[in-house]
Amino acid sequence: MTFAELKEKKDLVIVAMESSCDETACAVLKDGKILSSVISSQIDIHKEYGGVVPEIASRNHVINVEPVLSEALEKAGVTLADADCFAVTYGAGLLGALLVGVSYMKGLSFATGKPLVKVNHIRGHIAANYLADPTLIPPYIGLIVSGGHTAVVRVDSYTSFTYLGGTMDDAVGEAFDKVARVLSLPYPGGPEIERAAKGGQRTVYIPEPKTTGPYDFSFSGIKTSVINYVHTLEQKGEAINKSDVAMSFQSAVAEMLVKAATRAAKEYDLKDIALAGGVGANGEIRRVLTEECEKRGLRPHFPTKETCTDNAAMIAMEAYLQIKYGDGSASAEDTLDAKASIPLGGV
Ligand code: KG4
Ligand code: ZN
Repeated sequence: MTFAELKEKKDLVIVAMESSCDETACAVLKDGKILSSVISSQIDIHKEYGGVVPEIASRNHVINVEPVLSEALEKAGVTLADADCFAVTYGAGLLGALLVGVSYMKGLSFATGKPLVKVNHIRGHIAANYLADPTLIPPYIGLIVSGGHTAVVRVDSYTSFTYLGGTMDDAVGEAFDKVARVLSLPYPGGPEIERAAKGGQRTVYIPEPKTTGPYDFSFSGIKTSVINYVHTLEQKGEAINKSDVAMSFQSAVAEMLVKAATRAAKEYDLKDIALAGGVGANGEIRRVLTEECEKRGLRPHFPTKETCTDNAAMIAMEAYLQIKYGDGSASAEDTLDAKASIPLGGV
């Protein structure tokens, strides 16, 4: 079957692989619905180093890629012969980590003669929303909040979006991870900050950074003000209330993100806002987005918490959309290579 023929195929079965960072994941999608989704996380391995060590990530992907594929096929009750095509994340991410998934899936595609679909990881994060809520239909505002990206986009169709603004420095996930480190909390910092913030009060003043455009963010200034606050107390020998610091940081970030997204919804007269990316698992950001949407008559959308962080179900879904609605540019050539960065809107 050619890539073009996949568009017309009934009950299309896609086997997708994700290995862009520290999760090796495989999922099977049939006719737009998930049959299985398996994630092997390396968090416990990288925790020891306080962050992801790229070389160690690559080596573990090599070990995990085959068992994860076998488990996903078994749980879905299918074999490789049932697959109509394969899909793989080819960027953005850690080059060595991506290469494992890309090489493996290129091999499967070559050996079976079935087409391979290349997937932009960030587009995959947005597609996770359709898994949770198939009634979500473009156009809408997408709020991308991951470890490597932070952006407000206008999702114009299933396969195209317009960049409206984003971070001028650190990604929001990076800021969570760095603030956690300052508070001596383990990696990954996001869930730790969320846990620490429970019961905390918003007592630490976090100044709102100056940005260029209405949908731009700056997280490095926020991070620095938290670091300065903590160091000043340390120098004075005073105790640090980690819960209060975590709560103050998390609330300030949630407000900034949601303000930009609701502003974009108003400007472009759109009623739906969809959250995407690992930081979207954060309960406070979800709460503030829900509250502000209610006030403005908007509808918030969220992937499940499991599909906010890296997984292959979202990669399979994005591949499905590219096959059904795309212009064919997601068809991977034999020369497909991994890419550390891809323009946010690009296939
Ligand atoms: O989207 P993701 O899984 O990977 C990238 O594509 O970058 O995002 C990872 C980021 C990490 O910075 C992690 O700390 C953050 O998502 N994260 C969270 C939460 N869970 C994961 N941040 C805030 N609250 C959470 N509950
Ligand atoms: Zn991700």
